[in-house]
Amino acid sequence: MEASHIKRSALMSAFLRGHHAAHDHPVIFRDEWARKLLSKDELVAFEATMEQALEATLPDRAAAMPDRAAAVACMVRDYFPTSLFLSRAKYAEERLEEAMSRGVKQYVVLGAGMDTFLWRRKELADRLDVFEVDHPATQAFKQERLADLGWRIPQNARFVPADLTRQRLDEALRAAGFDSEAPSFFSWLGVIHYLPRDDAFATLRMIAGICPAGSEIVFDYWDTEAFRPERAAVRVGWMLEMLRHAGEPMLTGLAPSAIAGQLREAGLHLREQMSPEAIQERYFLNRPAGYYAYEHAHFVRASVL
Ligand SMILES: C[S@@+](CC[C@H](N)C(=O)[O-])C[C@H]1O[C@@H](n2cnc3c(N)ncnc32)[C@H](O)[C@@H]1O
Repeated sequence: MEASHIKRSALMSAFLRGHHAAHDHPVIFRDEWARKLLSKDELVAFEATMEQALEATLPDRAAAMPDRAAAVACMVRDYFPTSLFLSRAKYAEERLEEAMSRGVKQYVVLGAGMDTFLWRRKELADRLDVFEVDHPATQAFKQERLADLGWRIPQNARFVPADLTRQRLDEALRAAGFDSEAPSFFSWLGVIHYLPRDDAFATLRMIAGICPAGSEIVFDYWDTEAFRPERAAVRVGWMLEMLRHAGEPMLTGLAPSAIAGQLREAGLHLREQMSPEAIQERYFLNRPAGYYAYEHAHFVRASVL
């Protein structure tokens, strides 16, 4: 994937999380900081993308919308993977808090994108060493944006540029001061599907190799059915197609039944796996209308053997 596309996917995630925080009640995951990371022009461009996408895919529904804001909200809630972005972030930070109560002191945000944890959850972040690892293009862009906005970089934050298809995660982390003896927690959200399968599992093996036993990782993945047009849910098929056209193809899907064995080979023990049905039950019952768990997206929590 090209650098400009990689950066765009991170900004899109911030746009969707920010839209949710500004417009939905009750919230599933509150990230009021995300929207501040987008410039006015980017905000307007993403809203236009939503509006155009509605017109192109659901012209009857588009015609029935009272105004532009309603069209944007319809796409954000019903079609784009906002529910996935919100629930996986919630899931990861809940598991992080549990891990902290067991003594975890290092948090690695892999493929951090426009993640705002360092500022949004200061009460947690202050008790951790936080490593934001990301593709060099995305990270350079984020640092420039943080500087423009005047957001202070906390002293306990380390920014680690690494293209995981070309660089070794363990070497990059060690060079940034990662302590291999300390129990650690990794989140890896919205990235695995962009990597070739071998790179994804090589990275998991490196995580298992660089941490003491009991350290944890949380990640999300798309199941293999998502990649079969005749089996994929409509909005998921549409999303994959759109990403392919945009030059950001999703490459890797995993089979839920094979995950435990694949993780074991990588030196990890599967602790929890959440299907879309389980995610629906945990995060979307009695929540804002329009949101439901994104089909084919699963969450995993695993620990180092
Ligand atoms: C959709 S964003 C997800 C951002 C954030 N984790 C979230 O959940 O909102 C995908 C992230 O994967 C990163 N990424 C994609 N390809 C990568 C690669 N080859 N190496 C490292 N990071 C990569 C991008 O830079 C981007 O930050």
